[in-house]
Amino acid sequence: MDTSFGKSFADIELNRYKFVSHIEKLKELARGGDVYPVTIELDMVDFCNHDCWWCVDPNHGNNSLSPEFVSRLLQELKSLEVKGIVYKGGGEGMLHSAFAETIRDSKDLGFEVGVVTNGSRLKTAYKAVVQSADYLRVSIDGPTEETHRRLHKSRDFLDIIEGIRQVVSYREELQNRHPIIGLSFAMDFSMLEFVRDAVEMGDDLRVDYVLLRPPFFEEVGRESSMTLEGKKELMQAFETEKATYKGTTTIMIDNWTSDTDARSGVFSGASPRRGAYSKINVNGIEHVTGRCHASPLLAVITAEGEVYPCCNLRFIKKWSLGKIDYTRGVGFAEIWQSERRKQVMEKIHKTECISHCTHPLSRYNEVIEYLRSPRYHNGFV
Ligand SMILES: C[S@@+](CC[C@H](N)C(=O)[O-])C[C@H]1O[C@@H](n2cnc3c(N)ncnc32)[C@H](O)[C@@H]1O
Repeated sequence: MDTSFGKSFADIELNRYKFVSHIEKLKELARGGDVYPVTIELDMVDFCNHDCWWCVDPNHGNNSLSPEFVSRLLQELKSLEVKGIVYKGGGEGMLHSAFAETIRDSKDLGFEVGVVTNGSRLKTAYKAVVQSADYLRVSIDGPTEETHRRLHKSRDFLDIIEGIRQVVSYREELQNRHPIIGLSFAMDFSMLEFVRDAVEMGDDLRVDYVLLRPPFFEEVGRESSMTLEGKKELMQAFETEKATYKGTTTIMIDNWTSDTDARSGVFSGASPRRGAYSKINVNGIEHVTGRCHASPLLAVITAEGEVYPCCNLRFIKKWSLGKIDYTRGVGFAEIWQSERRKQVMEKIHKTECISHCTHPLSRYNEVIEYLRSPRYHNGFV
C-alpha cells in the first residue's frame, strides 16, 4: 500500500478534479448564467526590472496600485466571494513597495495567495512570502548565470538563487506545507543543452517542482523562434530528463501546442493545466465547440485598475471591461455588471479572442460542455 497517497501536492493542490470545488459556478455558467470570479490576477505594478525577449506582457508603463486602492479592492473582492488572488503579471509585482504587506493582508482576509515572480526581490521578502503565499512560482528560464542573463537581460541570478534557498529553508523551519514552491523554465530550442541544468537546479534547491515549457509565441503576436522539428526535439529532451530524473522534485512538462503546431499534426498530448482536447490537429476544446463559457471564473486587474476578462487579453484595450475608480463609485462589481462587459462577453462566448488563447480554462470549458449536454447514462456509475 502507498501510504503517501493523498498527501502530496500532486494529489491535492494539483488534483485534476479540483473543479469539483467550483461545481455550483460551473452549473450556473452551463445554464447560461453569470458568476463572480474564483480567482483574480492582481497586477501591483506594470513595470519590470527584467527584459525577457519573449515576454507576454512587454508593454510596460510606470503604474503602481495605491495601498488605499488595494485595501478597498480586497475588501470588495472578499464580499464577492472571490477565493484566490494571484500576484503574477503586468510586470514584476514584488517591486511594489507594499508587496509584503499586501500579500499578508490578502492572507488575513482569507484569500488563497499565489505569487509568480522573477525572484529578484525574494531575498528581502522571503518571510512574507512563506507566511502568506499558498504557492510561489519563480520564473527562472535560464538555469545558469549566462543563460539567465541572456534571456532576462539582468545580472541577479545569484541573488535569485539565494532568495529561493531562503524561502525553502524558512518554510522548512516553520514546517509549513505552503507555499508550494516551483521553478518555471520557458525554453526554446536554443536552450536544448540546458534542460538537464534546469532539472538539476530544482533538485539542488529542493523545490517541489520544476516546470519545463516551450514559450508562447503566436498567441502573443510573435513569430516562433523554433521550427517544428526543433520544438519536437526540445519536447523530447523535456521527456527524457523527466524520465531519467531520480530525485524528489516533481518534473512537470507543459506540452504547449500552438494552433500552428496543432495543424501540423506533429504534436499532441495534454498539458498539466489544460484540458484533454490537446490532440493532433485540435488545440483545446474551444476550437471544437467555438465556445468559451468558463471565462468569468478568472479576471485580471491591472496596475491602472483596468479589468480584463482573461489573462490572455491583459493590456489589449479592445477587450478591457472598464476601469475601477472608487472615487467615482465604480468598483469591481459595477464593472462586472456593466453593459460594456455584456458586450465583451458575447464576443468571448463566441471565442472571437481565440487567436490570443493559451487555453488556460480549457478543463473548465470541458466540464461546462458536459453539463450543457443531455444527461444520458447518468444512472450508471
Ligand atoms: C509575464 S511574467 C510576469 C511575472 C513576473 N515578472 C515573472 O517573471 O514571473 C508571468 C509569467 O509569464 C511567463 N511568460 C512570459 N512570457 C512567456 C511566454 N512567451 N511564454 C510562456 N510563458 C511566458 C513568465 O515565465 C512568468 O512565469
